[in-house]
Parts: sequence; C-alpha cells; structure tokens
Amino acid sequence: MFISFEGIEGSGKTTHAKHTVRFLQDKGHDCVITREPGGTRIGEKIRAILLDPLSKDMDPLTELLLYTADRAQHIKEYILPLLSDGKMVLCDRYYDATMAYQGFARGLDIGLIEKMHKLLFENLKPDITLLLDLPPEIGLERAWKQINNGNRISEETRFEEERLSFHKRVRAGYLELSRLEPERFRIIDASKDEHGVREEIIKILAAEIIP
Ligand code: TMP
Repeated sequence: MFISFEGIEGSGKTTHAKHTVRFLQDKGHDCVITREPGGTRIGEKIRAILLDPLSKDMDPLTELLLYTADRAQHIKEYILPLLSDGKMVLCDRYYDATMAYQGFARGLDIGLIEKMHKLLFENLKPDITLLLDLPPEIGLERAWKQINNGNRISEETRFEEERLSFHKRVRAGYLELSRLEPERFRIIDASKDEHGVREEIIKILAAEIIP
C-alpha cells in the first residue's frame, strides 16, 4: 500500500507522517517513511538545489524537471522495490505536490504534468492521499515560527518566501485535485491542534487499512 501526505507549508504533514509510521509499525505493519523531494541520496542533493533561497531565479520549467528527476530516482530506487516487497510506503509529498505547486500555483500546463506522469511513471499514484488542509495564513505563520525557532532548516525556505497569493493557489489546487479524485483523497482539517489531527488520521486509517 502506498500512502501520501500532502498540504501547504506549515500544515504539519511531516510531523503527522512520522507519527503515523510509528503507529502503523506498532500495529505490526511493515511500514516505511520517505519524502519528496529527497528520499534517496541523489534526491537529497536535488532537494538542496530546489529549496535553497538562493535558487530564487529558477525557471518554472527547470523546477518541474528537477522535481520530476527527483521522483524518477525515488520511484526506481526506493518506492517500487518496497511496494513489490509488500511493504507499506508512506510518502511526505508526491505527485499531487507537483500538480498543486508547479501546475496550479506556478501556472505550468496541468495537462503536461499529467502526461509526464503517465509517460514516465506509468501514472503511479498513492492508494490514499491524506490532505492536511488549512488556510495559508495559519500555515505560513506556523512554518515561519518553526524556521525561526531553529526547528526547520533556514537553507530550505525558498517556498515559504513566496507571496500569500501563491500559497492560496497551492491550497486551491490541492482542493481541486481532491474534488477530481475523491476516491483517493481524504481531507483533514489541519487547523485543529496536533492531537485532534492525529486522532482524525488514526480514525481514517482504522477504517481503511487496519483490519
Ligand atoms: P517539504 O518542505 O514539505 O519537504 O517540501 C518541500 C517544498 O517543495 C515544499 O515547499 C513544496 C515543494 N514541492 C513542489 O513544489 N513540488 C513537488 O513536486 C514537491 C514534491 C514539493
């Protein structure tokens, strides 16, 4: 089984992906956690280029191709071998992030992104996508608090530095994607406190995965 966590900056998906993998492992599931960009040694190098605030002048097409290159490495080296071994793979961001950020927010052709995903990756999509949804005003405030506290790396702030309008488009993009594939998406109200969000995720998993 393949599960992705998605959401805007400061939605708490990384924290909840980590909680979830521990919860599932405790229940006896053979479960691993990974992330995009990153997840492989080569992917972590691509991540550093993508998130560096000094990469401000990166062309949107270059950005799309770097995220795609990261995904190519990640799928081949990590995701597919694990899935074919019968493992449960939890991924902190995946394809929907490309649709929301490079497509809906940057304005690249959505059809092109979909076509690339079909052609390059046989349209490999998660079985379940947990979308942690909240207003970007709240998400960005949380994200900057973590960066200023030193709980997140300040070398990875290129997207946090984007305008509020950009983050509003990302959120709207995610919600549109969930409308198009309601059978795959589960929307979680991430404006709740950490405990409330965790409970909601566990309830979903209990209904759908845990026998
Ligand atoms: P993270 O901070 O959640 O690990 O994500 C890194 C940033 O990369 C985040 O701002 C969203 C962005 N991103 C894209 O723009 N496109 C993508 O395909 C992915 C996976 C992430």
